[in-house]
Amino acid sequence: MNHGIEQRQSQHGQWSSRWAFIMAATGAAVGLGNIWKFPYITGQHGGGAFVLIYLVCIFIIGIPVMMAEIMIGRSGRQNPLDSMKSVAVENGRSSHWRWVGALGILASFLILSYYSVIAGWSLAYVFKVAVPSFIERSPQAIDASFDNFVANPWKLLFWHSVMIIATAVIIAKGVEKGIEKTVYVMFPAMLTLLGVLVVYAMESGHFAQSVSYLFHPDFSKLKTHGIVAAMGQAFFSLSLATGSIMMYGAYLPRSASVTKAAVVIALSDTFVALLAGLAIFPVVFANGLEPSSGPGLIFETLPIAFGHMPFGNVFATLFFVMLVFAAFTSAISLLEPSVAWLIETFKIPRRKAAIISSFGIWFVGLVTVVSFNWAANIKLFKLTMFEVLDFLTANIMLPLGGFFIAIFAVWFLNRDVARRELQLPDGKLFSTWRFVVRYISPVAILVVFISVIV
Ligand code: TRP
Repeated sequence: MNHGIEQRQSQHGQWSSRWAFIMAATGAAVGLGNIWKFPYITGQHGGGAFVLIYLVCIFIIGIPVMMAEIMIGRSGRQNPLDSMKSVAVENGRSSHWRWVGALGILASFLILSYYSVIAGWSLAYVFKVAVPSFIERSPQAIDASFDNFVANPWKLLFWHSVMIIATAVIIAKGVEKGIEKTVYVMFPAMLTLLGVLVVYAMESGHFAQSVSYLFHPDFSKLKTHGIVAAMGQAFFSLSLATGSIMMYGAYLPRSASVTKAAVVIALSDTFVALLAGLAIFPVVFANGLEPSSGPGLIFETLPIAFGHMPFGNVFATLFFVMLVFAAFTSAISLLEPSVAWLIETFKIPRRKAAIISSFGIWFVGLVTVVSFNWAANIKLFKLTMFEVLDFLTANIMLPLGGFFIAIFAVWFLNRDVARRELQLPDGKLFSTWRFVVRYISPVAILVVFISVIV
């Protein structure tokens, strides 16, 4: 008897429809990556040229690799490591392909360790911005208050712990229905609030400057590490290469089109990121803030924007609540791969697996907590420990995983299996996909990697 696997299947077998899958996968994709990370790394890498490379990566690498990942998941139906292994073996290939799955599980583990710390900041801000006097302060005071907040490791530790516990509780229970419902309400509400912010930003007078900052590529501002960061961000934002999407794809109904799902997920994700950029940069320029100020960017700009609106504190609170939900639906997808692996490998109950894995993640998260205060001066290649973790996962592990997933899907997987899983007729669309995943995506990833080395 295999208790663990039974529970995992009953939990995930519940995608009620193709839309449920799309919602859950979109929930996994849309998160801090879009609203927190996209604006600040765009600011750090100079704007337009970075955005352009990011968009190119979404289309030539992101969507095709996402299709490959959903396809492997639907064929393998286990945790990423065993899915890769069994699909490889079934197709007469080496079981060593499992290491690609292992790399993904490790990446999801490391990403969640810092993701939870930042999600904790968002949760703390729900309470901060609820107080009208907070958002009515001067931009400098709001800025200073963020600096004071992250300078206190105990506060960060507290909110990080709250986020990890909450994520573990949901994963332990396996409330897929709960997630589905939350996402159904949360996603449209968040889009509406982002829309409100964009309208505010349009009136602030610095909108045109922001549009040109985001969409007018100036390649003199883009260094090679900006290109790597843009590719890393495409992987991170679409939740690729850790097996999250692979696991979600395993429960996609047979009748659904993987291609349409991948396109819908990727477009919604990109739309939210661009909207966040359009909401945030006008505030940055109007208040003389630095676009390149780093991870604190949204925590410094959004309170200022809301401070200028009637009932600003109400909207601000709603906004951060929604950001926490968005982070939550992503955090869950990051915890699931390691939990599923523990369940299936050690035959332990889901609850136990959730506790073990989340404790490990919480512990590794302490590195990120102290990297903003006590250990702020400990640097490797001029990067803080948080930045090292982020760089290692998003810019190295994810593209590397994506590279092997692409290679596997077209060079090693039987063509008919691919066609069957993608539900594509043997026509133009299928050959285009194969061509892109065979030549374009892996070569693009390699070129970016090599450009950094030389
Ligand atoms: N994509 C999510 C975001 O943008 C984060 C995330 C969830 C993720 N699952 C992932 C990132 C898997 C990389 C891999 O916030």
